[in-house]
Formats: sequence, structure tokens, C-alpha cells
Amino acid sequence: MPVLNELEKIKKEGKDKIFIASSLEELESLRVSFLGKKGKITVILKSLGNLSSKEKPVVGKKTNEVRQFIEGELIKRKKKLESKVLERKLEEEVIDITLPGRCFPVGKRHLITQIIDEITDIFIGLGYKVAEGPEVETEYYNFDALNTPADHPARSLMDTLYTQKDGVLLRTHTSPVQVRVMEKTLPPVYIIAPGKAYRRDVPDPSHSPMFHQVEGLAVDKKITFGDLKGTLEVFAKKMFGTDRDVRLRPHFFPFTEPSVEVDVSCMMCGGKGCRVCSGVGWLEILGAGMVDPNVLSEVGYDPEEVSGFAFGMGVERIAMLKYGVNDIRLFYENDLRFLEQF
Ligand code: DAH
Repeated sequence: MPVLNELEKIKKEGKDKIFIASSLEELESLRVSFLGKKGKITVILKSLGNLSSKEKPVVGKKTNEVRQFIEGELIKRKKKLESKVLERKLEEEVIDITLPGRCFPVGKRHLITQIIDEITDIFIGLGYKVAEGPEVETEYYNFDALNTPADHPARSLMDTLYTQKDGVLLRTHTSPVQVRVMEKTLPPVYIIAPGKAYRRDVPDPSHSPMFHQVEGLAVDKKITFGDLKGTLEVFAKKMFGTDRDVRLRPHFFPFTEPSVEVDVSCMMCGGKGCRVCSGVGWLEILGAGMVDPNVLSEVGYDPEEVSGFAFGMGVERIAMLKYGVNDIRLFYENDLRFLEQF
């Protein structure tokens, strides 16, 4: 019977084609071509009616056998192709842990904040406490209580920024915090007061209308000028290096008597003289002195009982000296190329 040969051929063709089918789509079109409505096997099944009653069961049995065989082959191949698809997907999605990670920029503290923290740490180590006061101040705390009455020539030395309210200004220094602390504390007092100060200055490489200071105050029984010198020496060595020398030069501040300006030996040249120290070998780092008895009396302390020293330093100036920064405006421009270096 030729139809049996035909079925045998279909079986072989099906086996071969299914075996090499390389995708699920291809497999589906093979299924249609054998078992679909117009598929080869379906066509034969439909034609069974034309056969004699003797041939029918033989061919029918064979056709079913071939159909089952093809169905079986299709399922086997499908499973194989599906697992291949899965494998490929897993391969594609594998994470390459040998790739270097992406770096996210991490922020850090501004150099001015770092310097303030450094100064604060040094004085905390010496037993000082940190105090704060307002940036919008009164004339009383900024000047009068600091032995600088209205007709005192020192007032005109400071270019003060006044508010529209009478007697209210932006503090020109952190020294008023001394008065505010003493007013509400009994001696002994050992404090530093970091913060912002304001002056009517036009910005240039060494001036800024806003800048930072750290004020210091020690009031106790029998505080001497020697204590001031020793404290500042410890500070300068911790801040700028153990091989630094400190020298005091007579100066004038209304709120201290005697008053000094404090120099540290130049960290660039070690004191020989260079461009940074303009050839003198010394760099001015702060103002200081023994608290004027008038200031102590003003807050109700007895100058016969207690004495004290005070100092005030510019944070930007210290940062500039320590890192060789030559323009104060760099601190406020917030250019990351500058800030990232510290
Ligand atoms: N307040 C001064 C200024 O801004 C700095 C200063 C000098 C503060 C001497 C002090 C001091 O406490 O004793 O220039």
C-alpha cells in the first residue's frame, strides 16, 4: 500500500526536521505542517474514508502511530529548546562581579568647618567648653561692654554693618560672646566661641564681608600672662607642627591690657624668610591679651579676685597659612575643584 510508504516517509521527515529545529517558532510551524488542519497527517486521516474496509484499520493504525510519534518528538524538542532559551537568558543576565564598581561622589566638610573643628578639638583637650552667641548683635555687646565706648577711636577702625534698627548691628568679631558668657556664668570660665563675623569690606584676596573667627576666654584666680603664652604655644604647635615657634608683639585692643599680636614661625621656610611670610620669617595668627579690668567689672566680676586672658583668631587666615591658599574668596565660591583638595 503506497500510503503506508508515504506514512513511513512522513515519520522519517518529521523526525529529521524536528531534530534540527532551532527555535520554538520553527517547531510550531513544523507542528502545523504535520498536524495542523492542512497538515500532512491530518490530510491522510481525512482521506481514510476513501479506503476499503480492509485497508482502513491498517492505515488508520499506522497513521495514529505516526501522529503519536511526531507529537512525542515535538514535545521532546520543545523541552530541549525551552531549556536552551532559559540557559541563554540566565547567561545573559549573569552579573559580572569582576567589573569595578561605580563610584558615587561622597561629600565632606568644608575646609573652614574642618579648621574650626580642629581648633575646637585642641581647646576641648585643654578643658575648654564651646560657647555660641548671635550674629546679629547689639552695640552694647559688640562695643560698649568690651571697653569700646561710642567716642572711642577704635570703633571707627572697624567697618561695621548696621541694621536699620538703632543699636543693632552684625557683629564685627566674636568677642561679644565673651561678655554674654561671663554675664551668666561665675568664674572660672574657659570657653572658645567659633562663629561668623561681618565687616563692611569689599571682597579682595584678603578681605571678605563675612568671615569666621574663634574667640577664646579664660578667667580664673591668678591667671597670668604666662598662662596666655603657654596656652597659645600649645595651640600653635598642635595646629601648625611641633617645630613652630611663637612670638608675641605688643599691640592694642580696647578689651585687653596688655594686648599682643601673636606670630608663629613661618611653616613654609621655618623662619628663614620666604614669599609667604614676606621675608620676615613670622606669620601673624591672632590677637590676644589680658582681659581689661573694665570688661571684668562690666559683667560683675571682681578684677581684684579674678583675672583672665582672651584671644581671637581668623579661621580663614589660619586655613590660608596652613594650606598656602592665596585668595580668601576661594572659600566661598564653592568650586569643587578647590574644595575637594582638603
Ligand atoms: N576681636 C579682635 C578682632 O576681631 C581679635 C581679638 C583680639 C580678640 C584680642 C580677643 C583679644 O579676644 O583678646 O580683631
